[in-house]
Amino acid sequence: MNTDNLSPPSFTEARNRLQKARSAGMHPDYWYAVEYDSKVRREQVVEVKFWHNSIALYRDNNEQLHAIENRCAHRQLKLSLGKVDRDNLVCAYHGWTYDNQGKLVHIPHELFDKPMPTCQLKTYPVQVRYGLIWIFPGDRSQSQIRKIPDLLELEGENPWACVPLDFTWKAHHSMIIDNVSDFTHAHLHRKYRPFVDAKLTRCEEAGDRVFVSYETLIGGGKISGLFVDRQQVNTNAIDLCYEYPYQWSNTGDKIKHWCFILPIDERTSRVFFLFYFNAIKIPFTSILFPQKLMTYVLKIANPILIKPLLSQDGFAVEAEQEGYETHFNKQVVELNPAVHLFQKLTIHKWEEHLGIKNSKYLLRKTGISKIRNSHEKLSD
Ligand code: FES
Ligand SMILES: [Fe+2]
Repeated sequence: MNTDNLSPPSFTEARNRLQKARSAGMHPDYWYAVEYDSKVRREQVVEVKFWHNSIALYRDNNEQLHAIENRCAHRQLKLSLGKVDRDNLVCAYHGWTYDNQGKLVHIPHELFDKPMPTCQLKTYPVQVRYGLIWIFPGDRSQSQIRKIPDLLELEGENPWACVPLDFTWKAHHSMIIDNVSDFTHAHLHRKYRPFVDAKLTRCEEAGDRVFVSYETLIGGGKISGLFVDRQQVNTNAIDLCYEYPYQWSNTGDKIKHWCFILPIDERTSRVFFLFYFNAIKIPFTSILFPQKLMTYVLKIANPILIKPLLSQDGFAVEAEQEGYETHFNKQVVELNPAVHLFQKLTIHKWEEHLGIKNSKYLLRKTGISKIRNSHEKLSD
């Protein structure tokens, strides 16, 4: 079928697993990282987006953060175009003013003998953790129950060295999940060799998690290999998990990362990575960098090693998005069984949000999927 001039199907129109995965949103009843804490200054307002929903995020004159539906109730201008006045948000056009609970509290022009209108905008719970601002876009009552993941290594007196990175990629969030936990793409990274000869040793779904392990040489590249202390860290294996809606990895309990995706729309995602380490050695020696120095080492390593590496992933997922939008009706072959489970979980959670019951994408409570050798086609 010629798909020229056609758009990929919506979730309800999707006819197979790939189309469903590539059109699914992310369940809003979770905390999502939306911006760095340092990027929103006092009395500044910025726009952030969660799955087509624009949110005005601002810091008031008391340093408190607030998140409000980004739409003036008068003529629908984005409130992020306005300004912060003490702890209120003032629309740029006629100056209608909203308090931090989203309530219209002031109109600075005549009311034409009408009473003050009652307008209430939606507000969102906000938190700051690990240098990131988190918003809960879904059912407010769930915001106390669902937690931001605990990254205990980044807390306490001796936190691990961590340098955050973020990217905005023109790609669907499910492509990013498929990318970060599927180690069949060593070819893409042949210059940096972050993992070599990966062999899948575990592929298991358990509730809203998909666990994956590989036997592989981690940090095998010429430069990255200099910093990895193979005496201290088991670099022959890595554990990863799609812990909905987040993703993490663990190498020998010494090198870890979390990936927090902010789904913006079907073809745009912002990705926050936190890589953290507690053992990096001084090149050509077996001496470990002191914990405090590691942060500086990472700051240097970041633009040389980590950012270029992840930019290759960005190149790949953006190209995949383009490929999908051109050929969404074509059948594809997917060999890694883990990718099937990632997509199944993404679909299941979106169906859960939409209230679709009895779907074939329901995951088992706990269970182990055998690692299959057969070629699996994405036709179901
Ligand atoms: S559009 Fe916002 S005050 Fe008129
Ligand atoms: Fe990669």
